[in-house]
Amino acid sequence: MTQKVLVLPGDGIGKEIVAEAVKVINVLKADHGLDLDLTYGDIGGAAYDADGHPYPPSTQKLAKEADAILLGAVGGYQYDDLPRDLRPERGLLGIRADLELFSNLRPAILMEELADASSLKAEVVAGLDIMIVRELTGGIYFGEPRGIRTLDNGEKQGYNTLVYKESEIERIAHSAFKIAMKRDKRLCSVGKANVLEVMELWAEVVERVGKEYPEVELSHMYVDNAAMQLVKAPKQFDVMVTGNMFGDILSDAAAMLTGSIGMLPSASLDKNGKGMYEPIHGSAPDIEGKNLANPLATITSVSMMLKYSLGNTELADKVDAAVTTVIQQGFRTADIYVDGVAGTKLVGTSEIGDAVVAALKD
Ligand code: IPM
Ligand code: MG
Repeated sequence: MTQKVLVLPGDGIGKEIVAEAVKVINVLKADHGLDLDLTYGDIGGAAYDADGHPYPPSTQKLAKEADAILLGAVGGYQYDDLPRDLRPERGLLGIRADLELFSNLRPAILMEELADASSLKAEVVAGLDIMIVRELTGGIYFGEPRGIRTLDNGEKQGYNTLVYKESEIERIAHSAFKIAMKRDKRLCSVGKANVLEVMELWAEVVERVGKEYPEVELSHMYVDNAAMQLVKAPKQFDVMVTGNMFGDILSDAAAMLTGSIGMLPSASLDKNGKGMYEPIHGSAPDIEGKNLANPLATITSVSMMLKYSLGNTELADKVDAAVTTVIQQGFRTADIYVDGVAGTKLVGTSEIGDAVVAALKD
């Protein structure tokens, strides 16, 4: 049966990087028997411009009908003064919540050839392979009450609420343990139980769920220490599970270990495995339209989509192998280019996309 994928390019470099990923999908369709229908929709600032809302009903409908979604990025300076509810980021949070994409997988894998591009010493990061499992539809991002209020003395006060129910912690814990079972069977739960009651409950529930996975070695770490350990000795980690905001922060840090934030894909899954796939980087409006952005995180997001939502591990592996080939051939976008490394060549967004397409045809 033909599977349906909704493509939401979004804003900034979103359009350029998604265009390269679509080239890859089209080769898979033409040459590798992938049976897939692509539909396009708007999200973020682009949707606000077209429909007056960052996640309009038309996109909601398409999203519900799709088997999987490929997203570029959202955000742009021109939207900074809009009311909070209409800003591009709200579109992204809206679709995550609407589809209950609670389990966000962010793999940080360092390709050997890119060890020089990491800001850490090559020996600290060589062979790095971490999976961050971030809770995506709860926590302080969605907690109520929230807002900015005026106190009796006329001073303004901003407030947000960090809340997690047992059921929310349980389901993300199960996700993380299941992933750990397919990897090195080590899971580190990251929290702040020394200060926050909600993270005390988090640790307790993860511990309880862990009883169902006796083969997985479970540890707990406070988030400040986890941030330090990630830049000190990142290879100690296999799978990390954490809440929404901690996961947002730690995944950016982990991305840099791999050389560039332009290399990290992600999957956001609901309980049935339906998912949205996006690079973890933002819309980078400063380099928009300049053929500078790295599309590889979007292309490897396609491979995660094939694996997690479309049940096609074989093609997922093919895409990953093509990306590795391109890196081995020396193609580098500016973010992963290190001057003076023999055999490398600085190229633009579309050239590196073409190279992946060529590698898939070989
Ligand atoms: C991410 C992004 C988003 C987030 C923003 C754009 C709302 O930083 O996906 O990590 O904070 O979740
Ligand atoms: Mg982020």
